Amino acid sequence: MKRILLIVGGGIAAYKACELIRLLRGAGHQVRCVLTDGGAQFVTPMTLAALSEQPVHTSLWDLKDEAEMGHIQLSRQADLVVVAPATADLLARMAAGIADDLATTLLLATDKPVLAAPAMNVRMWLHPATVRNVDRLRGDGVTVIEPDQGPMACGEHGPGRLPEPAAILAAIEARLGVGCQRLAGKHVLVTAGPTHEPIDPVRYIANRSSGRQGFAIAQAVADMGARVTLVAGPVALPTPPGCTRIDVETAVEMANAVAQALPADAAIMVAAVADWRTESAAGQKLKKAAMAPALALVPNPDILAMLGQSPHRPRLLVGFAAETERVVEHATAKRAAKNADWIVANDVSGDAMGGNDNRVQLVTADGVEHWPQLPKMAVAQRLAERIADAL
Ligand code: PMT
Repeated sequence: MKRILLIVGGGIAAYKACELIRLLRGAGHQVRCVLTDGGAQFVTPMTLAALSEQPVHTSLWDLKDEAEMGHIQLSRQADLVVVAPATADLLARMAAGIADDLATTLLLATDKPVLAAPAMNVRMWLHPATVRNVDRLRGDGVTVIEPDQGPMACGEHGPGRLPEPAAILAAIEARLGVGCQRLAGKHVLVTAGPTHEPIDPVRYIANRSSGRQGFAIAQAVADMGARVTLVAGPVALPTPPGCTRIDVETAVEMANAVAQALPADAAIMVAAVADWRTESAAGQKLKKAAMAPALALVPNPDILAMLGQSPHRPRLLVGFAAETERVVEHATAKRAAKNADWIVANDVSGDAMGGNDNRVQLVTADGVEHWPQLPKMAVAQRLAERIADAL
């Protein structure tokens, strides 16, 4: 039994919060509700109280509530704080750290994980301000699940619908590490991010990888119960809950960290490892001169290929292939050359490297699966399901 603090925001989708409470209670969890002023325009405190069989909290200034249970306590006694529906306004106030009502005060005061299920008009969801706020929240460690696509109450069509309550329940249980633990007992090794290859003490060779796709995969497999070792190049991302993170800078350091993390049941090599490094980095900052310095480059170890040949080769070895042309053809060649089981062929001609979404194709011994363009977390969850099937 887990304790869920459910914050119901103001939107037509608030009615789905009633079904969510029913599902959460059916799964054995305790639910306490906080209803915002906007939420109260769509559902009543009485409805939520009847479904949750708990008092419903609505106001920061309700002295009776403060006497019975201070708001700090309310958010800290929960195992997870869930915001559903999370409106554009609520997400913006969360991202800005504003605490001007009970819901936002609880969200700022909590030391527990937070999961938000957004619901809003498609234009609001796609607005740069909302995109920025969601990015900021994810960077702060909040799990923001993707809204569904489809017709909306306002008559428009696109992403922005609150996911079905069953899908929110699944995301909640994954975040809590309960429910379907298909990878329990498995050790999964994930590499993520770029490597930095020094030229001198202040300059380096790098690439545009943000680490997002790899971190999302680490989170998705950890959510399914795997023990995860995440070997991360230099990125500014919070460690996904439940993962052991090893920070490295160069390809050689990454190769060593990967070798030390073995044995593993599966290895997912998402890192954009630099293919070359300078033969020797200058000990002092190179001085600007009339002639640009000639950099002698030498190949870096190919970590994926090394794992493919290792006596400790993981049972499932998955590589990524970042390509800008003839994506599947190159990925297929890499699968054979590196002795990988699967290659996730990644078209990086757009902004997949560094961006929020990814378009991939899964190349296996059975052929090529074409996946639609998806948020990186959705790619990660889909891949995690496939990994669980394979293991
Ligand atoms: O980090 P993001 O901004 O979220 O972007 C994600 C991503 C685009 C970086 C990611 O999805 C991706 O495609 N990663 C692979 C990038 C890459 O280096 O591809 P590659 O085709 O050069 O390498 C093929 C495979 O060999 C990869 O699994 C890579 O990790 C591995 N490799 C490459 C070189 C090397 N020296 N050692 C390796 O292990």
